[in-house]
Amino acid sequence: MAIINGTLLAAKIKTEQANVISRYQKSHGSVPSLVIILVGDDLASLSYVRGKVRAAEEIGMEVRLIHLATTISQAELLAEIQKHNQNEKVDGIIVQLPLPEHIDPDTILESIAIRKDVDGFHPHNVARLWLSEPCVQPCTPKGIMRLLHEIQIPIEGANVVVVGRGNIVGKPIAKLLLDANATVTIAHSKSKNLAEITRRADILVTAVGKRNTIKSEMIKEGAVVIDVGINRDPIDGKLYGDADFENVSRKASFITPVPGGVGPMTICMLLENTIESYEKKINKNFLLK
Ligand code: GUN
Repeated sequence: MAIINGTLLAAKIKTEQANVISRYQKSHGSVPSLVIILVGDDLASLSYVRGKVRAAEEIGMEVRLIHLATTISQAELLAEIQKHNQNEKVDGIIVQLPLPEHIDPDTILESIAIRKDVDGFHPHNVARLWLSEPCVQPCTPKGIMRLLHEIQIPIEGANVVVVGRGNIVGKPIAKLLLDANATVTIAHSKSKNLAEITRRADILVTAVGKRNTIKSEMIKEGAVVIDVGINRDPIDGKLYGDADFENVSRKASFITPVPGGVGPMTICMLLENTIESYEKKINKNFLLK
């Protein structure tokens, strides 16, 4: 069994990104710029956005964290987003999810300028993803595809089971794997005989957010396990994935650890999407000159 080191691959990619950005600084006198909006004080979200800010700073990207009170109205949040939509310097805007109950996430995601949607959550990008048209791919699924590519796992014809059907991971990773010619099954909380389904997987992606959802008897010998779960144990304060790592890792051929697997790749793909958005902008400005 091999543990897939997402931290190492992300570090390699970030070194390249830092070089790219320093070249743009010299050639264009500007760097890609990312705005991260966080509403409220959810501790997990706060920790995720801090990781994003740190990574952006590490590679020399311009990044601003806008931390707003939970009590902010939807109209005020929309006005905040508009400001960054109109600021030509800003290449990427993300609003960290989940949002407080009184704010409708669909309205918020739709309000982000399409060209600045570096999360790939705007319905325009979601539709293009499902039509297999060029689009901004959401960061976690994109990072998973990069990890699978890195370990050279054949995807074509493989039986892939995705556990979880959320908009951020489950649904989009299923579509990317389908595009890569896998036979994809999506299982979820209402699936009957989950173990029977997961045991068929050559590649198992779990994005449930519940510790010990995947036990060793639920996987096939030699399966590749991609664990997207991030679950904090209230007693020891440590992070755990969805899989019972100790036992599942004995049977798997490859497994991503939590932390240090998918998480760092998600951040890295956010940086990549922001750099690409900046590149589109400067190329367009060049053509207009
Ligand atoms: N919440 C959990 N994952 C994500 C993500 O990739 N982007 C945003 N904006 N919110 C999230």
